[in-house]
Amino acid sequence: MMRVIETRAALQTWSDAERAGGRRIGLVPTMGALHAGHLSLVEEARLSADLVVVSIFVNPTQFNDAKDFEGYPRVMEDDLAACRNAGVDVVWTPQVEELYPEGASTWVDVAGLSEPLCGGNRPGHFRGVTTIVSKLFLAAKPHVAVFGQKDFQQLAVIRRMTRDLGFDVEVVGGATVRESDGLALSSRNVHLGPVAREQALRISESLAIAERMFASGERSTASILEAVRKKLSEATQATIDYAELRDPSELELVGDEVEGPTLLAIALQFTADADGLGADVRLIDNRVLGSAAT
Ligand code: PAF
Repeated sequence: MMRVIETRAALQTWSDAERAGGRRIGLVPTMGALHAGHLSLVEEARLSADLVVVSIFVNPTQFNDAKDFEGYPRVMEDDLAACRNAGVDVVWTPQVEELYPEGASTWVDVAGLSEPLCGGNRPGHFRGVTTIVSKLFLAAKPHVAVFGQKDFQQLAVIRRMTRDLGFDVEVVGGATVRESDGLALSSRNVHLGPVAREQALRISESLAIAERMFASGERSTASILEAVRKKLSEATQATIDYAELRDPSELELVGDEVEGPTLLAIALQFTADADGLGADVRLIDNRVLGSAAT
């Protein structure tokens, strides 16, 4: 029977009791609007945990655009049903007032890794993520926590935070789940109008182009990025936030030549179409060239 727990104290009590009973706890942090990608993270957690907790909390501090926060899909009943079907043991649905009490002024901030890519265009975003993930770890006390690899930088930042602060949590990356046409699943996809939805395919197509170039021996950073940008520019309803090649561990820009496995990270910003269909939506995706594809 799935339990829905609302308060931090109740979750901690549950977690303490299960840990004392020798059971391993897996945490899948989410902001709800669950899709098959989230459910694959639940599966992944299940591989190394006896009990799986899903947290559902739309974290205000990681949004730097109030409209994005307000418009973020909130479908709690559907999410609870999806968790029940997936065999989740506990869903934690905390309230903002509990996680950010009046006057809250403590932040967890990972310097360096948080700054490029999404950090450049969304100031404060990762500080919000690492702060809330710390709070989730402290409340759920998981042995293992699973995050999607679609948010490659987020995963890197959380791994660094976990190591630096000494959280006794194993952080696992779950493979990106895609629609059959290649679009990476995202809670934001529901906001795409039909034209933007079709044009969003340029993202996975450009990743595939880069992978093919790399596989056939191309090592010029400029040539790979030129081909990627050319493909992305066919998405006329979007602007390119970034399309960059970086080293996958420190996220530093690569030089003129790519060497071993290299991260290609992309963010496209779509605007509502001329007929007002859809909304402004930012999509991200990535691939580590020269490694097993995700
Ligand atoms: O990836 C997300 O959905 C969020 O950034 C997370 C990790 C749940 C923190 O709010």
